[in-house]
Amino acid sequence: MKAIFYATSTGNTEEVANKILERLDDFELIDISRDGIDKMKECDSMIIGVSTWGEGDLQDDWEDCLGDLQAIDFSNKTVALFGLGDQDGYPDEFSNALGIIYEEVSSQGANIVGQTSTEGYDYDESKAEVNGEFVGLVIDEDNQSILTDERINNWCISIKEKL
Ligand SMILES: Cc1cc2nc3c(=O)[nH]c(=O)nc-3n(C[C@H](O)[C@H](O)[C@H](O)COP(=O)(O)O)c2cc1C
Repeated sequence: MKAIFYATSTGNTEEVANKILERLDDFELIDISRDGIDKMKECDSMIIGVSTWGEGDLQDDWEDCLGDLQAIDFSNKTVALFGLGDQDGYPDEFSNALGIIYEEVSSQGANIVGQTSTEGYDYDESKAEVNGEFVGLVIDEDNQSILTDERINNWCISIKEKL
């Protein structure tokens, strides 16, 4: 089984998740606020989408599922991540939630694919940046929505064969 696990507070992450779904074959869409993350156990490949809230915090539904996430063995699983944030409003915590989820799943053995360049973004600090690149796709609907479709297209092409 392959699935996109996401949660959203204002609809942005859901919109991006749907666009990714349209561009990939054989993926199911799972809203974790309704269905939780139990099905991750059945997935060999998955995509995880998370937005950042508070000051660099996980979106609430991901916060609620964090304990369950920490109980999943990600070895032998391939994972691509995407995150939404606001680089102008939160330049010191830009898309931190993506970095927080990355820390969890990579420390539990996941094979992470879909890292992207930080070029074209303007921020000071981000937990989503590791070794000079983003750990996944970063979307900023608040300031750069004009770039969203192109970013999603390029990313989906780059991960398609890996998932
Ligand atoms: C109160 C509030 C706090 C936020 N905190 C952050 C933050 O710390 N870092 C960040 O990059 N974006 C932050 N954002 C921006 C959201 O992550 C962004 O709007 C995102 O697209 C929301 O996605 P969602 O509607 O799917 O939850 C914040 C937005 C609001 C309204």
